[in-house]
Amino acid sequence: MAQNFLDLALTPAVLAAQEHAYGRAAVPGQPGDRDALGPEEVAFVTARDSFYMATVSETGWPYVQHRGGPPGFVKVLGPNEIAFADLRGNRQLISTGNLAGNDRVALILVDYPRRARLKILGHARAVDRGVDPELDARFDVDRPGGRVERILRIDVVAFDWNCPQNITPRWTKSEVEAVVAPLRARIAELEGLSRG
Ligand SMILES: Cc1cc2nc3c(=O)[nH]c(=O)nc-3n(C[C@H](O)[C@H](O)[C@H](O)COP(=O)(O)O)c2cc1C
Repeated sequence: MAQNFLDLALTPAVLAAQEHAYGRAAVPGQPGDRDALGPEEVAFVTARDSFYMATVSETGWPYVQHRGGPPGFVKVLGPNEIAFADLRGNRQLISTGNLAGNDRVALILVDYPRRARLKILGHARAVDRGVDPELDARFDVDRPGGRVERILRIDVVAFDWNCPQNITPRWTKSEVEAVVAPLRARIAELEGLSRG
């Protein structure tokens, strides 16, 4: 079971906020071993087609960026490691630059139809394309379009499942099309019958 997330998140200032608001604060444990991703987390992460990742700048500003790709674009390399390809973008390299000064990242991954979300804390490092050919091979770096410049490897330290509250269910175009296809076929069939 994941233990580490709250142990890391419940800092003295957070506990003080709880005390101020509710008159009492949670009792955090000592951050311990890293939380290992289990089968549920692995299935969830590898099914996602997008997520958000926050980094921290050397001036202390948080920075959040959206990442997207076909399901499977986030790979689980081990119980404590996930990775994804960083494509050539607008050449700002804000996330990559931030990681050079502070390797901490926070991710949020959402399954909108199921109204489930997973938060991950970890340490990330950028591995330039060409440095680790075996790693590159897992990411199809030579595919046409969207040139892969580097792989971002994230050492997962902690994760936490959020409650479904306030997640509006949304479906992607392909998910809607899969549901609508038999209805379209049935309509076409009925139209054929009524004409015949
Ligand atoms: C033409 C173009 C296509 C992109 N395609 C993707 C993409 O498919 N998935 C993705 O996560 N980011 C995509 N990006 C963005 C970059 O890969 C990357 O997220 C961005 O450069 C990160 O920069 P930052 O850390 O400075 O915010 C694309 C950017 C451009 C300009």
